Amino acid sequence: MKNILLLGSGGREHAIAWKIAQSPRLKKLYIAPGNPGMANQGELVNLDIMDFQAVGDFALKMNIDIIVVGPEAPLVEGIKDYFKGKKEYDAITLVGPSKQGAMLEGSKDFAKDFMMRHHIPTAAHKTFNGTNIQAGLDYLSTQKPPFVLKADGLCAGKGVLIIDNLVEAQDKFKEMLDGMFGQASASVVVEEFLSGIECSVFVITDGCGHYQILPEAKDYKRIGEHDKGLNTGGMGSVSPVSFATPEWMRKVEERIIKPTVNGLLSEGIDYTGFIFFGLINVEGNPYVIEYNCRMGDPETETVMLRLKSDLVDLLEGVALHDLDQRKVEFDERSAVDVMLVSDGYPEAYKKGYPITGEDQIKDSVVFHSGTAIKDGRLVTAGGRVISVSSYGKDKNEALAKSMQAAKQIHFQDKYYRCDIGQDI
Ligand code: AMP
Ligand code: GLY
Repeated sequence: MKNILLLGSGGREHAIAWKIAQSPRLKKLYIAPGNPGMANQGELVNLDIMDFQAVGDFALKMNIDIIVVGPEAPLVEGIKDYFKGKKEYDAITLVGPSKQGAMLEGSKDFAKDFMMRHHIPTAAHKTFNGTNIQAGLDYLSTQKPPFVLKADGLCAGKGVLIIDNLVEAQDKFKEMLDGMFGQASASVVVEEFLSGIECSVFVITDGCGHYQILPEAKDYKRIGEHDKGLNTGGMGSVSPVSFATPEWMRKVEERIIKPTVNGLLSEGIDYTGFIFFGLINVEGNPYVIEYNCRMGDPETETVMLRLKSDLVDLLEGVALHDLDQRKVEFDERSAVDVMLVSDGYPEAYKKGYPITGEDQIKDSVVFHSGTAIKDGRLVTAGGRVISVSSYGKDKNEALAKSMQAAKQIHFQDKYYRCDIGQDI
């Protein structure tokens, strides 16, 4: 029986908490800082997850066995390294990569070089900084449009520009190096454009070369239906993804997952926890668009529905380095998650509106993203507010159930997409 501390407060963490809470191996789940919805799954703890010492002190006090890190920020800042090599934390397993491992997400240039070294299929690229601006401008002029410009560092999903016109691309390239994304765009990766449909594949690994593949999912990033309008943190997700056939997944495993896991091992990079492969399917062949060092949001909100196996068993597999001995079973059904957001998001929006009806949903699972309690009432507290995930015999049935649930939840300025999963 395990005491588990989960770090994070979004829909992804709510879905992880929902799954952990079902485990017969769970003694007690603590969630820091969590959100109001997660109070159903565990005890909320008011901790700053970037204050590693506070996290460590709490973990010791509560006899925590396993810490699961939801978001990337503590990983990129080195929470794993803080816990490692300190005797008092010996009995605690932190599920997540070291600072170096998290660079797969924290630095696009690091990730691209890693893929090159291990012959992992990805778009051709070159990286530039303030010392070779002219070379970058010249390189762009040799490339075919559209031009893909990526800030090297973390930009909360906003650091990628895709531009059709060369002159505009060159201007934006200079602006990026000039601090458009602050320090994160001090280096810029210029990448070949790949055309295809995207799919997110997730793996959990134990740091010893063993891994298990979790259900895949597709997320919907644009605010408008049919993928129109601004990018958001994600408007919904679907799992399974129809083009991720067993044959395609075999290519993903052989060409991408194995070389990544083996590459981390052979380079001595301490990596336990989740690897998120952001893939694109180009004429039947998978390419890596990006790595993340955590689960996806809102993909997790469907992945956890389709993971039949006990997540705590897999976390124990990470702790004991025997993930190869654990089993992962997928639910045969489809799952669709629909995110309810505040009108105006991802630009300016209002918050603080009361939410009702979420406690009446029976046929779907409700995950909170940006909610808060004010004067004893549940209110909106973010752009992405709350989502509904449903099972169905196929994605259409799952979507229909999520649509039904989305209508039953009420708050002023509610907006959601009705086309999740419909393009595949
Ligand atoms: P990233 O932050 O690297 O995931 O990029 C954000 C989004 O930009 C991706 O989800 C893709 O839709 C798009 N994108 C990134 N790189 C490429 C590429 N090389 N070719 C086409 N689209 C891309
Ligand atoms: N859904 C994409 C992400 O979590 O980065």
